[in-house]
Parts: sequence; C-alpha cells; structure tokens
Amino acid sequence: MPQRTGQAGAECLEELSGLTNLAKITSSPDPQAHYAELRTQWGSVAPIEIERKGDTVISGWLVLGHAENCHVMRDELQFSRNAANWRWNYDDLLPPGTAIGAFTPAEPRPTAFYHDDTERQRLREPLDDALEALDERAVRDQTTYMCEKVIERMGVSGAGDLVRAYCQPVGFLAMTTTLGFDLETGGRLMTDAATVVDGDGDEVAAALTRTLDTVMEHIGRVRQDGGQGLITHLVSHKNFAHDVEIATSAIVPVSGAAIFLTAWITQTLHQVLADRKFAARVSGGRITLDGTLDEVLWHRSPISHSPAPRYARNDVELGGRLIRKGDALVMGIAAANADPAAHTDDQRDKIDNRSHLSWGTGPHACPAPRLARLIARTAVDHLLRHMDITLRVPDGGLPWASSPWVRHPTQLPVTWHRAADHGAIG
Ligand code: HEM
Repeated sequence: MPQRTGQAGAECLEELSGLTNLAKITSSPDPQAHYAELRTQWGSVAPIEIERKGDTVISGWLVLGHAENCHVMRDELQFSRNAANWRWNYDDLLPPGTAIGAFTPAEPRPTAFYHDDTERQRLREPLDDALEALDERAVRDQTTYMCEKVIERMGVSGAGDLVRAYCQPVGFLAMTTTLGFDLETGGRLMTDAATVVDGDGDEVAAALTRTLDTVMEHIGRVRQDGGQGLITHLVSHKNFAHDVEIATSAIVPVSGAAIFLTAWITQTLHQVLADRKFAARVSGGRITLDGTLDEVLWHRSPISHSPAPRYARNDVELGGRLIRKGDALVMGIAAANADPAAHTDDQRDKIDNRSHLSWGTGPHACPAPRLARLIARTAVDHLLRHMDITLRVPDGGLPWASSPWVRHPTQLPVTWHRAADHGAIG
C-alpha cells in the first residue's frame, strides 16, 4: 500500500512509496482490475511508478478519468509536452540509462511531439499536409502486396506464432513502405523499433540513434533521386529549417506508429480468433470489420498509456489532487476508455460513439487515424479472407508485451490453412 504523508489530496509525489508500476499494469492479464483499484484508492488521478532504476523510483501521476485526460490533452499551455519542464530534468534527478529518459529529453528534439503552441504548430503542419497528400490507393495496394508476400511465406498450411509470422511483418513493413523505405531497410527499422519499446535505457538510446541515421540517409537519397512516400512529402515542406527536423519528425511514425499498428492488428485478430461469440457476430454480418477495429480501440486499446507525458507548468488541481509544478502526468488511455463516470447505460449514448481516447485528443492528437485504419483493416481482412486460422491458447493464457505503453499478446499460437477466398469481411 502506498504510504502517504501530508494532507489528503496534496501528496508530494517523491514522498510516496509502494506505488504501482506502469509496465506491470500494461502487461497484466487484467489491467482494468488495476485501474479499478487505483480509482477506489485515489479517484481519477493516481500516483504511479513510471520506472524503477536501481533504488530510484521515477514517479508520476496516472490520469484515469476520461474528463481529466481530455482536459490535460487539450490544455498545452498548462500541461506542456516539453520535458524541459519536468522536475526530474531541470533538477537533474534522473539517473543515467533509464528507458523513460530516451522519451523525455531535457533539450526538446525538433519535432511537434516535444513542443507546445506555435513551435508545435510549425512542426506539426508538414505531417498533416503530407498525410493529406498521401495516395491512399497506393497505400492499400502496397499493404495488400505485403500481406500476400507474408502469407506466401507462411505456406499452404502450418503452425506457429501469428504475431511473428504475420502481424509484426505486415504492421511494420506496411508502415515503413508508406514512409518510402525499401523492404530491407524496413526490416532493420523493425528490429530497432522493438528495442525502443522494451529495451533498457542504453539500448533504447542506441536504437533511436540508429533509426535517426537510417532516416537521415533516406532523406539524402530522396534529395538526390526523388522517391515516393510520406518522407518525400516532408522533404519538400516549407516549414522545415533543416534535415534533422525532417528526420526527427519521421521518427514517431517509424518507431512508434508501426509498433501501435502491429498491436492493433494483433489485438483485433486475437479478439476475432479467441472469442467464438464475437467471431459469430463478424461472420454473421452483425458487426463489420470497422466495428471490430473500433471495439478494440475502446476495450483493448493498443496504446494503454501515452509514451508522451505532460508536465505541469504550475501547481494545479486535477481530479481532487494537487499536481505540483514540474510533476509528470501520464495519459491513461485504456483507463479513460473504461471510465465508469463517462459511460451510461443509455443506448442513445452508444450509437456511433467515437469518444474513446485511443487517438488522443487536442493539439497533439494522432494525425493518422485514417492511415492506421487503412493499413490495419487491409491486414486483418486479407488474412481472414485467405486463411483458416485456429487459435490454441496455452494453459496459463497468452503472454502480454512488457512495455508500459503498448498492449498486445506477444504470441498468438495458431494453426493455419490457405483457403479459397472467403470474400471481404465487411
Ligand atoms: C494503431 C495505430 C496508432 C495509434 C493507436 C496511435 C495513437 C496515437 C495517440 C494516442 C497519439 C497522441 C498521444 C498523446 O497526445 O499523448 C498519437 C500521436 C501521434 N501519432 Fe499516432 N497512433 C497510431 C498510428 C499512427 C500512424 C500510422 C502514424 C503515422 C504518421 C502516427 C503518427 C503520430 C504522430 C506523429 C503523433 C504525434 C503528434 C503530435 O505530437 O503532434 N500514428 N498517436
């Protein structure tokens, strides 16, 4: 049980002990049970352990409430994305080699991800414009090609882990191809991105440096020979002052987005394959593929907690707690999506309700829900159309990813048989 000191509602983060570790929640079989426990004890904002390095506990606030998450995400002036405003940075408290340190630089890197207000706007516009200009037909066709290649490699029938055999290569290579990389480079980026998500501090920093170098080389080639894909659109954008800004802006799609895409594809296939009643609703036409993908965003979000904390610029009250200047707030996406205060039994509230926070909200909201859906729906549709798959859940259940941010089973043991085209899922 966490030990509190001081008056209720005004705890000093660094004086609390026994806090719940973030990665333990994400990788547990039932994260919602942890959120419920935290809600009972603390309300809509709870102290948590972001990471432990030796004896040092790096703590922060986990925002559990839907309304509180929206409030924080929408107010970038009070709740900054710039980690220079984190007390652990400006008081020099962070031990060397932490994993969180790789995401929370004391000097903000030149991407919208780490900036607020006008600088965020300048660096975000190119991404929005590039996504707007993307040829969606080409993305669909490339993704379909990738799915087919991966299925061919799986053979006519077999047994193995569907995450490794299909979800991961398709999620990654579809994303890196959309950015403009060839398959060989996409494969290297995939290995580094896996390290970024669950490596230790030094490994994460090294993987990020390698990724930045790869993207810089690609930009050099685009400048010489032209090329296609998202990065080519970024290269010609007027807002960028130099190539490091372009490369740094492409890192989130390269390292982060591909991981979340893989998780979304995996979670959707798990939902359909593991839950016979759900599968019957899909095959019976009662729920569409988009409905299935949405169901996952609501109830099994691939992004449990945003890897981009906010930092309080001043002392401020949130959900009945005093947040002190310099405290980190972790956006609790999966908790907010299930917040009992935001859900009613009124059927009118359920029709086409898209108020889940799996894309975030406010000025830093995900710029690419449409692209992500196009890739994920193509990947799930192609597999279920062309393969008969049976899931074999081992005794003891499936293992879950050990990252604090991304949630998906790391393995889906299955058998597969190539089938005649079953037709589109819907
Ligand atoms: C299933 C797939 C994806 C999920 C669940 C997802 C989720 C999110 C969320 C929740 C945020 C906001 C984080 C916050 O405000 O704390 C975000 C930001 C972002 N996402 Fe995605 N995303 C996905 C795919 C993609 C793809 C395909 C791209 C490709 C361009 C992308 C690019 C970005 C970027 C650049 C940001 C940062 C925007 C900013 O800070 O202004 N995401 N994403």
